[in-house]
Amino acid sequence: MFTLTLTLHSLMRWAVVLLGIYATGRGKLGWFFRKPWTGADDTAGRLFVIAFDVQVLLGLLLYLVLSPITTGAFRHLAAAMQNGVVRFWVAEHITIMIAALALAHVGRVRLRRASTDRARHFTAALFFGLATLLVLLGTPWPFMPVARRLWPF
Ligand code: HEM
Repeated sequence: MFTLTLTLHSLMRWAVVLLGIYATGRGKLGWFFRKPWTGADDTAGRLFVIAFDVQVLLGLLLYLVLSPITTGAFRHLAAAMQNGVVRFWVAEHITIMIAALALAHVGRVRLRRASTDRARHFTAALFFGLATLLVLLGTPWPFMPVARRLWPF
């Protein structure tokens, strides 16, 4: 169960990153070229947020139940936090990702409330862009101090 969930979480990272870049890119181009807001723009943002929600659910399942790193750390939290790798999994990864998720959701709400198409594109570019940037910073890429593979297989 742990391996399956970790594998899905590892794969889903690509859906989140690529959809984040796509939704941000559509916002930027739409804003720059003053394009109308279309159903495709809405779908891009919706798919990004759905993929993100699924990824966070998988992450919470790992974090609270399945991961031997985090569940083991909860038993001796003070000692665990002295270790940089364990601290990344217990505190940094989840905090950055929840902040990114909040930005993505706030972006969806605010772009629906925006009064012009240009404002909608601007809001999408800003909030989805910041959320994607945080996701990129919080992911354990192979070149990061806490490193994991790019692909689980
Ligand atoms: C609240 C949100 C999240 C939580 C609680 C969470 C939690 C975790 C945990 C506990 C692990 C496994 C540590 C272990 O090996 O035991 C993990 C691994 C990982 N997480 Fe997350 N995560 C979250 C969101 C995300 C997001 C949004 C992404 C990227 C889009 C992401 C990307 C990864 C990657 C790439 C790994 C390593 C997978 C591998 O080993 O192949 N996580 N996460």
